[in-house]
Formats: sequence, structure tokens, C-alpha cells
Amino acid sequence: MAATRTFSIIKPDATRRNITGKIISKLEEGGLRVVAQKRIQMTEDQAKQFYAVHKERPFYGDLVSFMTSGPVVVQVLEGEDAVARNREIMGATNPADAADGTIRKEFAESIEANSVHGSDAAETAKEEIAFFFTEDEIVG
Ligand code: CMP
Repeated sequence: MAATRTFSIIKPDATRRNITGKIISKLEEGGLRVVAQKRIQMTEDQAKQFYAVHKERPFYGDLVSFMTSGPVVVQVLEGEDAVARNREIMGATNPADAADGTIRKEFAESIEANSVHGSDAAETAKEEIAFFFTEDEIVG
């Protein structure tokens, strides 16, 4: 199967604890390649727009506050079946349900401070990549 791309965020709980390298190692060891990456401070507008799909959910406000509470690392990952592979490596959204060896099992603090975000489908990945990166910033 040809290499595909997905979008990933290393969240503020992980940048705060200085464990971005450990997380990237897990992604790389899992067969994904970082083809674009930047460390940014998300603005409130960006976080609101990025998570707009959740705007009716009770946790939306807290999620926006959390995602703007410190720097994040946004990245494009490439590999075979990248969306699904990344989700396997991340583990379940709630760390209490995450399988052993996954990023969230090992590093997440809570369902909100769960260390990483990953696109849930190929179409979402395209939109999320375009939200943060121009095509010439992706060098794979
Ligand atoms: P993420 O993959 O970034 O997508 C939406 C985020 O909302 C999710 O990870 C969680 O960090 C956060 N979140 C907070 N509370 C909940 C909840 N009850 N259910 C699902 N997601 C939640």
C-alpha cells in the first residue's frame, strides 16, 4: 500500500513535561515518519476553529482552554495506512481504556490532557494538515 499522511498534535500536557521526544520516538518506532513539524502557541481562535466539530459538546470550552494553555507541536506524519497506524500508536482517547504500550497509556494524564491528537479519517487528515501547513512546508 502507498504511503499516506495524517495530522498529529503533541498537546500542552506533553510539551510542559518535556516529553515531545519520547512521543515522537514512539511514532517513528511505529513506522511513521515526520514530514512536517512546528512548535506553536495555538490562539483561541485557532483552537475554536480546529475543534469546531465538538462545539456542542460539554467539554468544548475546557478543551479550547487546555489546547491554548501552552505550546503544542503540530506535525504531519507519513507511512503506510498513516491515519489508522497513528491511532493505534496513540491508543484510546481515554487513557483508562488505552492499550499497553500506547502513547496515551504511557503518558496521558486524563481524557482531556491526553498528550496527542490524531486525525480520525483520511478526509479529516487532509483538512487538518491544510489548517496548519502549506504544501511547501511538507518535505517527505
Ligand atoms: P482529541 O483527539 O484531540 O479530540 C477531541 C478531544 O477532546 C479529545 O482528544 C480529548 O482530549 C478531549 N476530550 C475532553 N473530554 C472528552 C470526552 N468526554 N470525550 C471525548 N473527548 C474529550
